[in-house]
Amino acid sequence: MKLPWTFSYFLILMGTGCDSQIVLPLNMSSAMVKTPRKIKPVNSSQQQELGGLSLALEPGAKINFLTMVDNLQGNSGRGYYLEMLIGTPPQKLNVLVDTGSSNFAVAGAPDPDITTYFDTTKSSTYYSLDIDVSVRYAQGSWEGVLGMDVITVHKGLVDNITINIATILESEDFFVQGTNWQGILGLAYNTLSKPSSSVETFFDSLVRQENIPNIFSLQMCGVGQLVTGSGTNKGSLVLGGIEPSLYTGEIWYTPIKEEWYYQVEVLKLEVGGQNLNLDCTVYNTDKAIVDSGTTLLRLPPKVFDAVVNAIIYLSLIEDFTNGFWTGSELACWHKPETPWSYFPDLSIYLRDVNTSRSFRLTIQPQMYLHHMLTVEENLECYRFGISSSSNALIIGATIMEGFYVIFDRDEKKVGFAVSSCAEVSGSLVSAISGPFTTKDVSGNCISTNPFREPILWIICYALMSVCGLILLTLILLLLLPQRQSIEVVNDASSLVRHRWK
Ligand SMILES: *[C@@H]1O[C@H](CO)[C@@H](O)[C@H](O)[C@H]1NC(C)=O
Ligand SMILES: *[C@@H]1O[C@H](CO)[C@@H](O)[C@H](O)[C@H]1NC(C)=O
Ligand SMILES: *[C@@H]1O[C@H](CO)[C@@H](O)[C@H](O)[C@H]1NC(C)=O
Ligand SMILES: *[C@@H]1O[C@H](CO)[C@@H](O)[C@H](O)[C@H]1NC(C)=O
Repeated sequence: MKLPWTFSYFLILMGTGCDSQIVLPLNMSSAMVKTPRKIKPVNSSQQQELGGLSLALEPGAKINFLTMVDNLQGNSGRGYYLEMLIGTPPQKLNVLVDTGSSNFAVAGAPDPDITTYFDTTKSSTYYSLDIDVSVRYAQGSWEGVLGMDVITVHKGLVDNITINIATILESEDFFVQGTNWQGILGLAYNTLSKPSSSVETFFDSLVRQENIPNIFSLQMCGVGQLVTGSGTNKGSLVLGGIEPSLYTGEIWYTPIKEEWYYQVEVLKLEVGGQNLNLDCTVYNTDKAIVDSGTTLLRLPPKVFDAVVNAIIYLSLIEDFTNGFWTGSELACWHKPETPWSYFPDLSIYLRDVNTSRSFRLTIQPQMYLHHMLTVEENLECYRFGISSSSNALIIGATIMEGFYVIFDRDEKKVGFAVSSCAEVSGSLVSAISGPFTTKDVSGNCISTNPFREPILWIICYALMSVCGLILLTLILLLLLPQRQSIEVVNDASSLVRHRWK
């Protein structure tokens, strides 16, 4: 799992006129947020009443396919999950919405960290494929077995669809105590499916069986909320389309560079309006992806260091300890003081679908400083929401919370619009602007991994075939005389036996 983070946080006290540091353990069990669930108004021309609930029909979808807003719960720290009904009779489970993996998997056996699991023996429609499967995430892993069953998305789908389900029999650091999910819904491409890409993903099955547009969109509403605990902020996973009530302004699209993760091309980063001026390939080492299953904004080490240095330079606060930047310490201010004015905005430039242009996602410190609940009543404490990553730039939940993100697989692009719920104290803390020129960026920012280039694969296979043919010929040439000599020996032995008989 990529979400959980260690509970070994300590506080450091910050703020004007107070440079003494106190160190306190955090009380995680008291970190609980309750946001009342409410149904947002939907496009009224398409509105339909069903069982007293407001549901929005997606354009182009079958009449019995319904999407609904506010079908997710969770928070960026522990993930957003969707309720699903699995099997016959239906068993209710929550699954984590993860755009950074591709298997649909649920607990198939009891586990001390979860309260319920999918009991395949109690489902008359469950069919085991008897294929072992294991998946390793950035953090955590599980092992299980592949099967199939009918599912329906509670508050979203009226039909039952049949999908591949991996039942998790053993896991390590995967389930997290206190979170309310028991499985994972991998929404990336089948290229990442385990054990092989031939395992159809949940979303591919849905698109094929329900004939909906190959597009889904995600709104996660946790900005400004406490990120810890089993807090339940709301969110929306719209299957098959775009829901107008979930965003404001324009949608900006960036091409999906390769269909495995949702890989995009980052052109530039700015801190407080100042360009970090790194070579743009550094931002994409070894990939830049949009991943709802990763909590933080994760940056390649060089970029991370540059961002931290720029923030330190611009924030005018001298006494940050290293632990704050590495995530092991919190920075706290005396109430009612807030840190917002000390910290700069952060901007990420993505290549536009018109490749000679770019657009910019801007987040205010309210988005990258995460409010944490602590035992100290007179303090407000914050965690740094950016961390270093050795193998990717990951636009994780904390960035995604500022935006309504559209995964348009039909047109191979990811769209961003300002989310209708990215507000703190009544003002928006995220913004999108553009277009910008890409003249200051040298060509392609994605250094091509030779083994991901199709043409090189073809050359590679061709060379392998040639080698294989040569080898085969050699073996045949070696074997032919050998076979003769064996025959000779056989003849000789039969001759010998014959003689002794
Ligand atoms: C932690 O919080 C819980 C719930 O608010 C409370 O019952 C418990 O006493 C707290 N523990 C400590 C050590 O403060
Ligand atoms: C409602 O949906 C219809 C059909 O997709 C669309 O033409 C119309 O513009 C939408 N109305 C609003 C207010 O978004
Ligand atoms: C979906 O499956 C469940 C369990 O198998 C069943 O109770 C329900 O009637 C089915 N619904 C539809 C619309 O087929
Ligand atoms: C792409 O952007 C460039 C620069 O803004 C503009 O000149 C060009 O017309 C655009 N192309 C399309 C197809 O919109």
